Amino acid sequence: MGFKNLEFPKDSTFLVTGGAGFIGSNLCEAITDMGYNAVCLDDLSTGKQANVDLLKDRPNYTFIKGDIKDYDTCLKACEGVDYVLNQAAWGSVPRSIEMPQFYEENNIKGTLNMMEAARQKRVKKFVYASSSSVYGDHPVLPKVEGQEGNLLSPYALTKRVCEEYGKLYYKLYGLDTYGLRYFNVFGRRQDPDGAYAAVIPKFIKMLLRGETPTINGDGKQSRDFTYVDNVVEANLKACLASSEAAGNAFNVAYGGREYLIDIYYGLCKALEIEREPNFGPDRPGDIKHSNADISKARKLLGYDPDYDFAKGIALAIEWYKNNL
Ligand SMILES: NC(=O)c1ccc[n+]([C@@H]2O[C@H](COP(=O)([O-])OP(=O)(O)OC[C@H]3O[C@@H](n4cnc5c(N)ncnc54)[C@H](O)[C@@H]3O)[C@@H](O)[C@H]2O)c1
Repeated sequence: MGFKNLEFPKDSTFLVTGGAGFIGSNLCEAITDMGYNAVCLDDLSTGKQANVDLLKDRPNYTFIKGDIKDYDTCLKACEGVDYVLNQAAWGSVPRSIEMPQFYEENNIKGTLNMMEAARQKRVKKFVYASSSSVYGDHPVLPKVEGQEGNLLSPYALTKRVCEEYGKLYYKLYGLDTYGLRYFNVFGRRQDPDGAYAAVIPKFIKMLLRGETPTINGDGKQSRDFTYVDNVVEANLKACLASSEAAGNAFNVAYGGREYLIDIYYGLCKALEIEREPNFGPDRPGDIKHSNADISKARKLLGYDPDYDFAKGIALAIEWYKNNL
């Protein structure tokens, strides 16, 4: 269970791209807590200097400010690295619909640069962030790897292309790649601000400030909201997985299903606030329901998530209460 007792060779070094962001900073924190070396490569485009400052005094943490669109930067960063955890990308489905060319450049070219650099520097494992958005409009629930529909956004396309490169790099060059299809991750340090903020931190912040959140659509959409420590576990377990499991993509979620409207009222209850939400139009590119079958990751990665939604949201609320 969990990841805290996982063992890697002494002095192992993990390169976390996007390590100044939400998920990446949680990875860097976990790796350095466990006594291994974390190198964070981030251009701070959506990540935060505060997430670097939090860890910068740890002797086993290094920060490189750099852009994965630049291949030389990727090559240098991969020097002496055992495992790459590639998180750097721009998120947000609606933003990708507004600026598809940037997403192509940043998310696809950036990840390809990192895969190539990892191959050249003989990195042992290349684990990369994919997304549940690759399921597109496929109606079947739960989502199972191998049953994908038509894509609904440029963001989803970037993730699918990266998965195809992941497969090819394994088949052609023997680089052990593992794609992790995250489903709506939440938890400490997720950014509550900006037009493209994720719903849970945004709602918590607005409620704590006395503002009224707007729910897009009727609130009856559902998601497999996944606590960030489950995602950390999946990344670290992928680094320990067999080569036979490489060249694959895996659902990374808890395997539950939460309705947005219930989350809203659950947050109000936990924060002891009585307020009705506003309702707005549906967002383009959004799917109505999503939840994951996680049996492939359980079987091939030994993934065994510790945090169900209730446990995770209680921790997240506590963190935001103390850190906003
Ligand atoms: N948060 C979720 O629910 C979720 C769901 C599915 C997939 N993902 C994926 O997980 C990864 C991490 O997401 P997050 O939620 O932590 O987002 P985030 O925005 O907090 O973190 C992404 C980080 O990548 C950095 N970055 C972006 N482009 C870069 C570049 N060209 N060079 C160097 N650094 C760059 C940003 O500065 C940021 O620190 C992303 O690949 C995202 O697509 C996230």
